[in-house]
Amino acid sequence: MSMKILAVVGSKRKNGNTAALIEKTLSAFQNSEDFSVETLFLGEMNFVGCNGCEGCSKSNQCVIKDDMQRAYILLREADAVIIGSPTYFYNVSSDMKKFIDRCYCFTNYMPGNRSVWTSEFDSGPRKFAGYISICEQNNVDDMGFTPQVLQKTFESLGFRTVFNQKVLHCFKAGEVNSKSEPLDSAEANGVSLRETMLLQGK
Ligand SMILES: Cc1cc2nc3c(=O)[nH]c(=O)nc-3n(C[C@H](O)[C@H](O)[C@H](O)COP(=O)(O)O)c2cc1C
Repeated sequence: MSMKILAVVGSKRKNGNTAALIEKTLSAFQNSEDFSVETLFLGEMNFVGCNGCEGCSKSNQCVIKDDMQRAYILLREADAVIIGSPTYFYNVSSDMKKFIDRCYCFTNYMPGNRSVWTSEFDSGPRKFAGYISICEQNNVDDMGFTPQVLQKTFESLGFRTVFNQKVLHCFKAGEVNSKSEPLDSAEANGVSLRETMLLQGK
């Protein structure tokens, strides 16, 4: 049975740098019977942010009926995710933040002691994750929290991190396509994820 990769593009620019880097990472999975790939463009999805209703607290099912419902199916089925976001004011894009917050439904808290919690995915088969952050400035400080937000979120949901790529100094949509170093790194990261998954024998 083939393993499933879910890629999530957190920029509204379909021809932007995040999309280009994710595509390059995914090239490691092309033409392989072992893998199937699905890409979600958050900018094309119709979904709202978490409203904190706690309607998911007993069921792990979000009560908001929008395009996240399909994303939930894909996240549950995925053996690995590749999550990419541009830096917007030292953080992930607002679409990515909405997406992350809507993943709250996967968490379980102990009644009476919310410092004890798990993720729905902790008890299932191991899932892997890779992250891509991209920004305009030259200093990694100017990415602010972007890489950490992606990694901490998906690790808290039970994913094991395989790579966390940080790409600096790209402003215009698609500018990264003229830079070999980040593209080569993205491809190498894809290969690492592929080999990790094959080694795990998922
Ligand atoms: C609203 C907004 C906020 C931004 N904030 C930052 C920032 O804090 N630091 C930075 O280096 N670049 C910042 N940028 C630049 C983007 O991160 C950069 O253009 C990136 O390459 C966009 O990726 P994309 O092509 O995938 O959309 C910002 C861009 C926008 C539109």
